[in-house]
Amino acid sequence: MLRRLSPIQPDSFEFTPANLEWAQAQTTKFPEGRQQSAIIPVLWRAQEQEGWLSRPAIEYCATLLGMPYIRALEVATFYFMFQLYPVGNVANIQICGTTTCMICGAEDLIRVCKEKIAPTPHTLSADGRFSWEEVECLGACTNAPMIQIGKDFYEDLTAEKLAQLIDAFAAGEVPVPGPQNGRYSSEALGGPTALTELKGQGDQHNASVARAVALQETIKRIDGTEVPILTPWLKGRGTEVSPEAEKDGIKG
Ligand code: FES
Repeated sequence: MLRRLSPIQPDSFEFTPANLEWAQAQTTKFPEGRQQSAIIPVLWRAQEQEGWLSRPAIEYCATLLGMPYIRALEVATFYFMFQLYPVGNVANIQICGTTTCMICGAEDLIRVCKEKIAPTPHTLSADGRFSWEEVECLGACTNAPMIQIGKDFYEDLTAEKLAQLIDAFAAGEVPVPGPQNGRYSSEALGGPTALTELKGQGDQHNASVARAVALQETIKRIDGTEVPILTPWLKGRGTEVSPEAEKDGIKG
């Protein structure tokens, strides 16, 4: 898949004072003369500031680290995590279109994005809030088909479920990441077949959830906040939500 820079580019880019301070601190992690080793986090910070990586931003980062533009460009164009086109300011939906997801329905997910966002990838929706693109395997094949939004994975999707997720984002919500079909992770759909000794807490399917809640695991959300693990799909079935999450007023 070719990765090119957007034909529409801003005139300039500059880090905010806080981000500049942060980027300069990154360079001190490396021996003198090796400051370019910080290129990935520095590019990432530029992307977090602007939402995407423009040519001026890439060149600014290269200058900051004392490296040729082309070396920074090589990094930015190699990794899918770097957005080379403007993205929606609410969500850029990255749909895995590789083999497992394709077999399990990725094309249906792409159809939803075409209908609800824009007919072509790397194109902003009419209100500028959403965009979408197809990407290569994101490593969650056992939960295919799946998408990534920001740092979050939404897995075990159907066309209907994805449409609901987009509507929720549009309404200002941050839907709970993870499997969307009732699984906690990638356990067998019929429930765990090993380590089932926690069977007493709800049905067998809830055992791994109960374990995670007991360990006080957290989920990092797209807005950067970290919340206790939630399992709203189990509401009324025993181990749905940790007490902290309830207090936080988070809904599934
Ligand atoms: S094929 Fe989609 S996550 Fe691997």
